[in-house]
Amino acid sequence: MMKKPRGVADILPGEVERWQYLEGIIRELARTYGYQEIRTPVFEFTELFQRGVGEETDIVAKEMYSFPDRRGRSLSLRPEGTAPVVRAFVENNLHTWPQPVKLYYVGPMFRYDRPQAGRWRQFHQFGAEAFGSADPALDTEVIALLMDFYAGAGLKGLTLELNSVGCPECRRELVVALRTYFSSRQEDLCRNCRERLERNPLRLLDCKEEGCRSLAAKAPVPLAFLCARCAAHFAAVKEGLAAYGINYTVNPHLVRGLDYYTGTAFEVLVPEIGAQSAIGGGGRYDNLVEACGGPPVPGVGFAVGLERTLLALQQQGAGLPQAPQLEVFVVAAGEGVTGKVFEVLRLLRKAGIAADRDYLGRGLKGQLKQAHRRGVQRVIILGEEELQRGNVAVRAMDTGEQVEVAETELIAWLKMQRA
Ligand code: HAM
Repeated sequence: MMKKPRGVADILPGEVERWQYLEGIIRELARTYGYQEIRTPVFEFTELFQRGVGEETDIVAKEMYSFPDRRGRSLSLRPEGTAPVVRAFVENNLHTWPQPVKLYYVGPMFRYDRPQAGRWRQFHQFGAEAFGSADPALDTEVIALLMDFYAGAGLKGLTLELNSVGCPECRRELVVALRTYFSSRQEDLCRNCRERLERNPLRLLDCKEEGCRSLAAKAPVPLAFLCARCAAHFAAVKEGLAAYGINYTVNPHLVRGLDYYTGTAFEVLVPEIGAQSAIGGGGRYDNLVEACGGPPVPGVGFAVGLERTLLALQQQGAGLPQAPQLEVFVVAAGEGVTGKVFEVLRLLRKAGIAADRDYLGRGLKGQLKQAHRRGVQRVIILGEEELQRGNVAVRAMDTGEQVEVAETELIAWLKMQRA
């Protein structure tokens, strides 16, 4: 038997309706917030993520699906959506559009991580990115959109953690402080972090190794090094959230696993899903557009993990939509009328009624059994005698009650029964 690779999933009918449900919430929210959809390719040049997300990050250094194409150029399946959207923003000159440009996306991302509950190698994100304004009100809006998404989906008990990782100016002093702090404790660091200490000490705050984590818990934090501008920005974001009625806790140790953040950083946690409790995160990235070859355009955004959102909803016992039901089954009573089945089906479907028929040459009894298995409410039985009178028989599956309805009245009659 052929099997799928580890860490990926088939989404079958019965489950796919939950995805469609979330996607419906996303599209409606995006519309009301004025975000337009963007679709970028699932693979990009590897360099985009090296430059955008950062070569020292776990995502790029350890978790990327990279491969040479037939000409030997390195391509990577996208591990996240922000760098591709920024690339598209630059390549398509979206800085010439009225600013801010507000975009959203829904799609698969790929990370070669150890699969476990809530952690997949192919997973799906809903993300939003807003470009062209450094106003802290836009940070607030992005977070409001994120929290409205969870509320719309019916998730409860979430924690919004907030921090500011500061701009490159604040970071100069922070980096010095971090080097000093970690250098004197090098023997407790993992090998990777010992190597990263010189190049990118901020990454040490995000290492998952036990030894590094306990050191990081007491390390200097970015908040203590914010420049006046970043401090004012952070204060304004907090004020904005309070005015919006969004609860948050400041977590000075939150740094996020991507290098591009330049100020606000946030993460949303849900207790029910254990180790993988982050169901969304984001922040401000004011230098990324320029780093990707564009003009200096600020940006802010987030991404939600949709698998984790669904997992949390299930754990919380939230009611999720079921597979839609077929409404009617059209059955031929006798060989002479099989040609008529399609004609009736077509009428029904055109009228928006979910209808189907038998395709396995079953007899009348077999067709009725099939209708029962498909869970329809009504069967339309086409019999020669009834058709000669211009009628069809309609049987209610629950009561077995059967009536004759004029063919010309069928659609109107069925719609009346629905109401
Ligand atoms: P991220 O925190 O790396 O941020 O990912 C966002 C969300 O994707 C996580 O909170 C989590 O719910 C989900 N996720 C990540 N990895 C996995 C996985 N292996 N399996 C299942 N779900 C996963 C970003 O990706 C940034 N691009 C967010 C952003 C947008 N920042 C600014 N704009």
